Amino acid sequence: MTMTPHPTSALITGGNKGLGLETARRLGELGWTIFLGSRDPGRGQAAADHLTGRGINVTMIPLDVTSDQSVADAVVRVRQHTDRLDVLVNNAGAAGTIMAPAEATVEEVHSVYDTNVYGPIRVTNAFLPLLRVADNPRVVMVSSAIGSLTIATDPTQPPATFHELAYSSSKAALNMITIRYAQALPEIRFNVLTPGEVANRKYTATDINNHTGQLTVTEGSDPIIELATIGADGPTATFIDRLGPVPW
Ligand SMILES: NC(=O)c1ccc[n+]([C@@H]2O[C@H](COP(=O)([O-])OP(=O)(O)OC[C@H]3O[C@@H](n4cnc5c(N)ncnc54)[C@H](OP(=O)(O)O)[C@@H]3O)[C@@H](O)[C@H]2O)c1
Repeated sequence: MTMTPHPTSALITGGNKGLGLETARRLGELGWTIFLGSRDPGRGQAAADHLTGRGINVTMIPLDVTSDQSVADAVVRVRQHTDRLDVLVNNAGAAGTIMAPAEATVEEVHSVYDTNVYGPIRVTNAFLPLLRVADNPRVVMVSSAIGSLTIATDPTQPPATFHELAYSSSKAALNMITIRYAQALPEIRFNVLTPGEVANRKYTATDINNHTGQLTVTEGSDPIIELATIGADGPTATFIDRLGPVPW
């Protein structure tokens, strides 16, 4: 096998389970160097050991996206292995307690935003120096169809009748954040995806939805892999699912 001098590297937040772990497996099986972020080092190391057993080059990185210190420490740890990062997958996410607007508390909304909104900003900004020196840097934001203003206002779509405040608005914010990064940093590809099939009203069975989804993590991670593997001439500021473009 011919080894390139710099194997493609990817950091995946929330890589210990669900879509993050499946993304780590699939990118790792492409021969990439995987940095598997996990807020719980024990669960993260168990997941990394599982991938190592499959022949994947993986390093577990303790990473709580709600902590500035944890994110700063993660940069130091990744720098011990590489001087560049090709792909960042901002996958970590929290649903929080599902509360209708009238019942929502600012504390609960803040906690969901800390993970889903401030988390990707913290991690992206901290890793920008490593991304900037890569040949074809890509940032993949794992959002949700429920964060689409078009889908949330389409009465034929389930999110239109799902009375919830924190999670849906956090993903809407993440969508705009992705657009703003893409516009400001054209040398980096920033794209966003929902791990489902909007046209078929399907999402992915994971812990975040008590495994009520209809798709497997392999199917749900298809758009993550697609956006993580785009070339330097690939799109930026796009929103997709595994079937194609999704409306903002
Ligand atoms: N499943 C779907 O159909 C669906 C649909 C739309 C969007 N999404 C998005 O997909 C992403 C992955 O979710 P999933 O479906 O794979 O659910 P999951 O299995 O519950 O995974 C969520 C991951 O996020 C991690 N996480 C939560 N808070 C964190 C924090 N503060 N710091 C670091 N990691 C943290 C979790 O770590 P712990 O194990 O430590 O809790 C876990 O690894 C999320 O952003 C979610 O919003 C999923």
